[in-house]
Amino acid sequence: MNDGSTSVELADSLRALVSRLSPGDRLPSSRELIKKYRVGPATVARAIAALAAEGAVVTRPGSGTFAAQRLRDTVGSSDTDTDWQTVALTDRAVDTHLIADPLGPPPAGTITMDGGYVHRSLQPTGALSAALARAARRPDVWDRAPAGGLTALRTVFARIVGGSVAPQDVLVTAGGQSALSIAFRAIAGPGSPVLVESPTYPRALAAARAAGLRPVPVPLDADGLRPDLLADAFAMTGARLLYCQPTFQNPTGTVLAPERRRQVLDVARASGAFVLEDDFARHLGHGGTVPRPLIADDRDGTVVHVTSLTKPAAPSLRIGALVARGPVMERMRAVRLVDDFFVTRPLQEAALEVLSSPTWERHLRSLGTALRERCAVLAAAVTQEIPDATLAGMPTGGLQLWIRLPPGVDDTVLTSAARQRGVAVSAGSRYFATEPPAAHLRIGFAATADHTELTEGARRLGTALTDLDPKDGPGGGTGLGSQKSTAPPRRARQHETTLHDQ
Ligand SMILES: Cc1ncc(COP(=O)(O)O)c(C=O)c1O
Repeated sequence: MNDGSTSVELADSLRALVSRLSPGDRLPSSRELIKKYRVGPATVARAIAALAAEGAVVTRPGSGTFAAQRLRDTVGSSDTDTDWQTVALTDRAVDTHLIADPLGPPPAGTITMDGGYVHRSLQPTGALSAALARAARRPDVWDRAPAGGLTALRTVFARIVGGSVAPQDVLVTAGGQSALSIAFRAIAGPGSPVLVESPTYPRALAAARAAGLRPVPVPLDADGLRPDLLADAFAMTGARLLYCQPTFQNPTGTVLAPERRRQVLDVARASGAFVLEDDFARHLGHGGTVPRPLIADDRDGTVVHVTSLTKPAAPSLRIGALVARGPVMERMRAVRLVDDFFVTRPLQEAALEVLSSPTWERHLRSLGTALRERCAVLAAAVTQEIPDATLAGMPTGGLQLWIRLPPGVDDTVLTSAARQRGVAVSAGSRYFATEPPAAHLRIGFAATADHTELTEGARRLGTALTDLDPKDGPGGGTGLGSQKSTAPPRRARQHETTLHDQ
C-alpha cells in the first residue's frame, strides 16, 4: 500500500491537518499516523518529506514533526505583488493555453481518459527499476556523457530506425518534446511558416510557436496527410518545414498510406523543405505490421526523425532521439549544447539497459495486445453511450480514439461537463492550428486502470452529453443540433500548473 499515490493522499490529509494547527504544534507521531491511516512507515516518511519540502512542516529528529510558520507569513508568499510582470512580459513567447490543462487538476476519483502515457500497470516498472539500479552501480555513471549521447545508446536507436542510419546520425534528447523543440529552433527562424497536419499534437504547435514559427494546417484524411494539398501549401507559403506523424498519428490514429510516403518525401524535396517526422508511436502498434519510418527511405537528408521511449516505457524515462544527416544535425547539436549540454547519464545508461534486455521485446508485445483490447473495449462503449458520434476509423496503434461529436455539441462545453461527471477527456479544438472544421473529442484508453474504468468513463461521458443544458453551448442538450443557442460556450478558467497529457 505504500506506493506513490498513497503517500500523495496521505500528504493531502496531513496538509489539511496542518492548516488547522498553529505554528509549532506537534503532528501525530509516525506510529500514530501508521495506525490511523493504515499505511506503512515508508508512506508516512514520504508524505512528511513532501510536506517538509513545501515548508509546511519542520521535522526535528528525536522530537517529532511540527507545523511550520504559515507560508503566507513568510517572504515570497502568494501575497507578493507581481503585477509588474504583466507589463514586463509583453509578447507571449509560450502559448500557455496549449500547454496547461484549461480545467486544472482533476478531482480525486476522476477517470483519466485525457492522458498521453500508459497506466502504471502497463509500464515495465520492474525492468526499469532493475535497469536503473544496474546503471547506478557503474563507476562512471556520474561522469559527463558525450554531447550526442552514449555511443551504445545511439547505436541501438540507429538500429531501430533502420535503413542506412548510423550511430553518428543520432542525437540523444530528453524525450520527444525536447527533440521537437530543438528541431523547430534549429531548422526555421522566427516568423517562418511550418506546415502541420490538421489536426495535430498541441504541444508540437506550442513548441513551434515558442520558436517563433507560424503553423499552417494541411488536412488529413483516412490515409494520412494529403500530398496534393501539401504541394499547394508549400507553394503558397514558401514553408521549408513540414511537421508530421506518419505512424499512428496523434490524435487521429491514422497511418500514412504506403503510396503517400514516397509522395510526401518527393513533394518536400521538390520544395527544398525538411520533413520533421515525429515517430513517437512506433512501439504502440496494436499487433499488426508497423511501417518503416520515413527516414529509412530518405536518400538526401530531407527527414529529421524524432523518437522517444516515454510512451512504451514510462513518462519519466525521458530519453528520446533526433536522427538526421547533414548540416541540420550540426545545428541541432549546437542547440542541444546551448540548452543543457547533454542528457543526464544515469538515465541514458538505464535506457540502454532496458532496450538491450530480452524482456523489452516481450514487454512491447504484451503492451500491443493490451492496447488493442482496450481500444476495442472503449470503441464499443463509446458506440453504445454516444451513438450519434462518429468514430474516425478504428486505430491500429496509439493510445486514443478520435471521435467527431454530433452536430451542435461544443467540445469544450462537453469536456467541462464530463469533468464534473468524473471523467477527463480532451477537447478536439486544442488539436487544430486554426478553426476546427467540426467538434471532436480525443478519448484515451491507455491511462485508465482497467477495462471497467474504460466503460465507466464512457458511461459518464454519455451522461454528461445527455445532460448538457442547451444554454451551455450551441445546440447542447439532447436535441442535438436542432436549436442553436446564442449563449457563448462556458470556457473554463486557465490553470497555471497542471500539464495536459496529450
Ligand atoms: C505526437 C507526440 N509527439 C511527442 C510527444 C512527446 O512525448 P515525450 O516528450 O514524453 O517523449 C507526445 C506526447 O504526448 C506526442 O503525443
